Amino acid sequence: MNEMAPPQKARARYDVDLATTMPGTPGGVFMRQFWIAVYDSAALPDGRAMPIRIMGEDFAIYRGHSGRPQVTAYRCPHRGAQMHLGWIEGDDIRCVYHGWKFDCEGKCVDQPAEDPGYNEKVRIRTYPTAEHMGLVFAYFGEGEPPHFPPFPEPQGEGVIEVRPSTEAPCNYLQCFENSMDEVHVAFTHAPGGSHARIAHDLPVITAEETDWGMMRYGTRKDGQVRQTLHYAPNAVRVFVPPFFGMEGVGGWPEMILIFTPVDDETCRWFATSKVFVTGADADAYRTKRAEMQKNAGAVRPIMDVVNDIWSGKLVYEDVRHPMLARVQDIAVQAGQGRIANRETEFLGKSDAGIVAWRRILARELRLIADGRQSKTWATPGPEVVPVMGA
Ligand code: FES
Ligand SMILES: [Fe+2]
Repeated sequence: MNEMAPPQKARARYDVDLATTMPGTPGGVFMRQFWIAVYDSAALPDGRAMPIRIMGEDFAIYRGHSGRPQVTAYRCPHRGAQMHLGWIEGDDIRCVYHGWKFDCEGKCVDQPAEDPGYNEKVRIRTYPTAEHMGLVFAYFGEGEPPHFPPFPEPQGEGVIEVRPSTEAPCNYLQCFENSMDEVHVAFTHAPGGSHARIAHDLPVITAEETDWGMMRYGTRKDGQVRQTLHYAPNAVRVFVPPFFGMEGVGGWPEMILIFTPVDDETCRWFATSKVFVTGADADAYRTKRAEMQKNAGAVRPIMDVVNDIWSGKLVYEDVRHPMLARVQDIAVQAGQGRIANRETEFLGKSDAGIVAWRRILARELRLIADGRQSKTWATPGPEVVPVMGA
């Protein structure tokens, strides 16, 4: 009599945790090699500090009186008060608990109740911080940061426009993966018709690794090729449909969308873009944009709408919103779960971009986990550009 074979344990598809960016993990070490987008420049108030959480760690961020942005440790080295409660003096920050003051290099420059000289023994950790295209970036790794800016501004005259950042209740990687998934456009963004120009047929997806990340192609039946840049570790540069209410002005802008991990179950979408309008058209664009903002009235928060879709209160198909594409994207991507289960998926050939990036990411994380030399990433040059392909 044959004995039943014991059930085979399915082999895990990935032998490293692709999704985590917590400190000390391979993913955390990988991410901390790069400049990370942390705040919308326009939203960072002058002269007061704010708390931020990035890759599972807390920090304070502020803009000094010279205009310089600065990220520091979350807690004061004296007795652990939160630094964002403090006062900004020039470009320095003073703790509200006992008045210790720190400069941008982290030196303690004043200790009102201590003997002179003790301050020289004390430092707070500060992080290299800089701005590009309306976003604040910080470097959380060891040693010297890589070249800044981490990606070039799109060439050609135009208006830089930043869309307000949004928090999405899911891991950053499923959003970055979605940016490699051009096929979703024809379905997820069908309601509202924003992407109709590139949704008339389904492209064949291919991708190749580059020294700065991954180039992805979407080839259509008529031979047109849409080319999209995926900058390591978490940004996509792509042509997107005109923003809500701005249709007919300036064509399709180039957008750089960055998915910053807040922690493993939350990420923040940063979006900066260049709208190709010049001269009188640029003025008209700014005027129209300002009018729209004035008349915008109360817009429902994106997550309120998404939650109504998830609970069945709203029909996905019927939703309309000034940031409809973002509502739609977050509904499906965060709807995969806080951390998508990659062990049970059935990947198809249309997932070629996702498969290619996971292969790169898994290789890098494995090298880091084994203590071996991982890739040295380059900063992309201005000549590498996306192609509309429609
Ligand atoms: S805890 Fe910051 S000065 Fe005492
Ligand atoms: Fe989308």
